[in-house]
Amino acid sequence: MNTLHLSDSPADLAVAARLLREGEPVAIPTETVYGLAADARNEQAVAKIFAAKGRPQDNPLIVHIGAWEQLRPLVKGIPPQAEKLAEAFWPGPLTMIFKRSEIIPSGVSGGLDTLAVRFPAHPVAQALINQSGCPLAAPSANLSGSPSPTTAAATAADMDGRIAAIVDGGDCQVGVESTVVSLVGQEPVLLRPGYVTAEQIAAVCGSCHIDEAVTSQLKAGQVAASPGMKYKHYAPKARVVLLDGPAAAITDYINAHAEAGVFGLVFDGEEKGLTVPYLTYGARSDEEAQAHAVFEALREADRRGAKILYTACPRTDGLGLAVYNRLLRAAAFEVIKLV
Ligand code: TXA
Ligand code: MG
Repeated sequence: MNTLHLSDSPADLAVAARLLREGEPVAIPTETVYGLAADARNEQAVAKIFAAKGRPQDNPLIVHIGAWEQLRPLVKGIPPQAEKLAEAFWPGPLTMIFKRSEIIPSGVSGGLDTLAVRFPAHPVAQALINQSGCPLAAPSANLSGSPSPTTAAATAADMDGRIAAIVDGGDCQVGVESTVVSLVGQEPVLLRPGYVTAEQIAAVCGSCHIDEAVTSQLKAGQVAASPGMKYKHYAPKARVVLLDGPAAAITDYINAHAEAGVFGLVFDGEEKGLTVPYLTYGARSDEEAQAHAVFEALREADRRGAKILYTACPRTDGLGLAVYNRLLRAAAFEVIKLV
């Protein structure tokens, strides 16, 4: 398949909207990461998303809307906490989980009776939802298991030849996927950390429980609250190892393990003294910069042929938790504590 490379000009957006209406998947920019979008009501279109990504059928998709009023028909009931969270954070990088209505085929939700919905802030995403007239099911536009793409070029590296078109809307501002919070039970449950933090959700709702799978590995036989959490995720080809400790200890550890193919991924300003090739991903105290840079850094490590990527471990609160959660999965939970 020849994949069209479209810009965000009005003429190109009209082409993308037509392809979406016709049931073709199109990669689109959002403020978090690029998404691989298709009409959520069209089972064949949704099947093409799973095929293009090589995504397991039981891993549910997020449906994207372009206005608050578009939510009601997709779900069975909107809890008061969802209205409050929408007022605070929509449009934006927050996904909420509701009971699913019959308009959306169960395959979108991997057979679950719930549905994840997000109202993205990116103007191109909003324009495509509203011009196509389709609620858009859209997972991240990477091959299943790879780091999410935050540029059109990274999207093309995974999706060229597999989908109808890619719309280039520039770099994604946030850089990690949306926060996923379930509102199906009494208390909000954070299933995936993102730019909207657990602390911010608790401030709006009174509390926010963090699902244990956010920071720990599922035990054998345990059922995942969010099916995405049970798969290997965000992983570059290089083996990622997280190093948790101060700059000097990280530098010493990496240098002591220097050999061909070993790279460092450290915080800006902490690269001094490294004797191996390295990348940086934002300052130690700048979680926004880390979120923005982390996935592209993992992809760049692969492009440069890294075999082992020793990575400085981010904080585990606030937005740091989102970066930590992605790197922990990229590292298959391999963390070395240094003092
Ligand atoms: O920022 C984002 O959320 C991006 C952009 C494109 O909007 N999308 C995205 O989608 O990250 P995806 O498919 O890569 O990740 C969706 C996550 C998965 O971990 C999935 O298991 C979880 O959300 N999820 C979706 N529907 C769910 C549901 N009904 N119940 C529990 N978890 C759900
Ligand atoms: Mg994904």
